Amino acid sequence: MSIDKDYFNKFVRTTEKAAIGAFPFIGKENKNAADKGSVDMMRNELNLIDMKGEVVIGEGEMDEAPMLYIGEKVGTKNGLELDIALDPLEGTNFVAKNLPNAFSMLAVCEKGNLFSAPDTYMEKIAVGPNLPKNLLDLDNSVEKNIKLLSEAKKKKVDKITACVLKRPRHDKIIKSLENLNVNIKFISDGDVLGAISVADPNTNVDIYLGIGGGPEGVLAAAALSCMDGQIQTRLVLDDQELRRAKKLGIKDEKKKYNIDDMIKGDVIFCASAITNGDIVDGIKDLGDKYEVSTFALHKDFKILKKVKNFHPKK
Ligand code: FBP
Repeated sequence: MSIDKDYFNKFVRTTEKAAIGAFPFIGKENKNAADKGSVDMMRNELNLIDMKGEVVIGEGEMDEAPMLYIGEKVGTKNGLELDIALDPLEGTNFVAKNLPNAFSMLAVCEKGNLFSAPDTYMEKIAVGPNLPKNLLDLDNSVEKNIKLLSEAKKKKVDKITACVLKRPRHDKIIKSLENLNVNIKFISDGDVLGAISVADPNTNVDIYLGIGGGPEGVLAAAALSCMDGQIQTRLVLDDQELRRAKKLGIKDEKKKYNIDDMIKGDVIFCASAITNGDIVDGIKDLGDKYEVSTFALHKDFKILKKVKNFHPKK
């Protein structure tokens, strides 16, 4: 079954409002205040929507997050049963330091169709559309994955661009890519957009790889499933996280998740830019109103568009 089309604009509005919540904190070096601004606005908007919603990926577990915690029920309790993965502020550093690519985002599936990943690290490897299904594998060497991609895309290895989060834990991957002469696009944060960039024809990124947040991996999977992209992930867990993962019902902690394991059926994905984004412009303060731009996708209705809306200031 598809998620009713009426929900699309409501969720776009939700991330728009969440983005506005963080806007006053751009460049203020206050990550927590910016996050709270977005969380409060997102929660208000979600609770106006006619749905029986449940946060399956949120701000943390009930004892650590007062709002939008995992398991929190949202919506008016009328309407469809929906599971929601949300990140009211993806790129807290970007807002704090006034850097591009801070977004408010969420993904929505019908109940039971969205992987409830714990808030731990996750290995990820993502590629764009028009490639053989499950082409790459996290258990392959970087060299093998790049060779497979180069053959499938009929693109020389030294013409391939890989997007990598700049972290010391990626030194080995980076060394391998450098030895192969692959071009590297480093990002300092924001790996949802990093992973999605493989399916964006306006970037020349061919592959995203490395370890980032688990919730961010599922959000990227939601967007990529609307864009015919692919992503494979695997949780990275220490002992304490393993216990938490078991509590969330994860039986095989070494499981590799392909996109269909994380996102089943229809999905809506919305990402509203706070600061200027590679995909859409950031919020513009027009005096009496804000102009907010959103990258918005609805899989079953083949909607993939950039939406611009205006919100009067109160
Ligand atoms: P926040 O906005 O929550 O700070 O996350 C930003 C981010 O860069 C994510 O995009 C990414 O998945 C994760 O942090 C990487 O974590 P770390 O900074 O610990 O390497």
